[in-house]
Amino acid sequence: MKIFIDSAEIDEIKQTYEWGVTDGITTNPSLLKRAVDRRVAGGEKIDIRKYLETILKTAKGTPVSLEVTERKAGKMIEQGQRLYDMFNRVAKNVYIKIPVNPSFSEDEDIHFDGVEAIRALTRKGIPVNCTLIFTPEQALLAAKAGAKFLSPFAGRVDDNLRKKMNIDFDKSEYYPEGGMARNDAVVDDNGIVSGIDLVRKCVQIVTHYGLESEVLAASLRNPRQVREAALAGAHIGTLPFAVIKNMLKHEKTYEGMKSFTRDIVQEYADLK
Ligand code: E4P
Repeated sequence: MKIFIDSAEIDEIKQTYEWGVTDGITTNPSLLKRAVDRRVAGGEKIDIRKYLETILKTAKGTPVSLEVTERKAGKMIEQGQRLYDMFNRVAKNVYIKIPVNPSFSEDEDIHFDGVEAIRALTRKGIPVNCTLIFTPEQALLAAKAGAKFLSPFAGRVDDNLRKKMNIDFDKSEYYPEGGMARNDAVVDDNGIVSGIDLVRKCVQIVTHYGLESEVLAASLRNPRQVREAALAGAHIGTLPFAVIKNMLKHEKTYEGMKSFTRDIVQEYADLK
């Protein structure tokens, strides 16, 4: 599974590329706002164009997703094209992120504007990452429209299921892949029992029909969920910096390091 960093913080991005563990970057409007607000609060003046250019260069040719902020098909297409023209020349690695359905509610019927924008941008040769996927059928339509990446939001599925059960939770807490039961029945959202269940079903559809899209497991919140996304066959997982850092931690690794260090044969360590 390829690992993307889910961040708009340049220092975090640089660090993971220095470690050599990242294969791409995803941003979204909230991540960008957080990064910009933090710098502005620290007294920095931000030139957003230069800031994004630095992110694109840091990615060393690997994909960077930039999300549109418009919601109507025509406007999304225009903005997607504009962002692509403005930034793809920097390092040839821009993917435009389009929501699978930009409606704010069932009543606001712009349900297919995202799919329309995906189709139009794809036809222009602009690669699209389709975001905010919560059902396998949304993923199927996005794939048919030509999206290169399909982003199911695993963590937010788990948040939603826990809310249904009135469970107090911390977002980074593990939620079982097989779901949780209440009154002898596994709690689900239209047949989806966990975020990883959603990822697995998206992968199954893509694989079954030999679709060209890659499943990008998004909204991953802890290392065990990353493992399960990989085992479910996700092509890509996008991880916050904190999750990447937590992936190497294990008490037995620390213990082993202490004993190996204690047992060093000095002549061996000094070999030149
Ligand atoms: C990435 O593409 C998504 O925007 C991101 O993973 C969402 O994560 P969150 O649900 O933790 O905000």
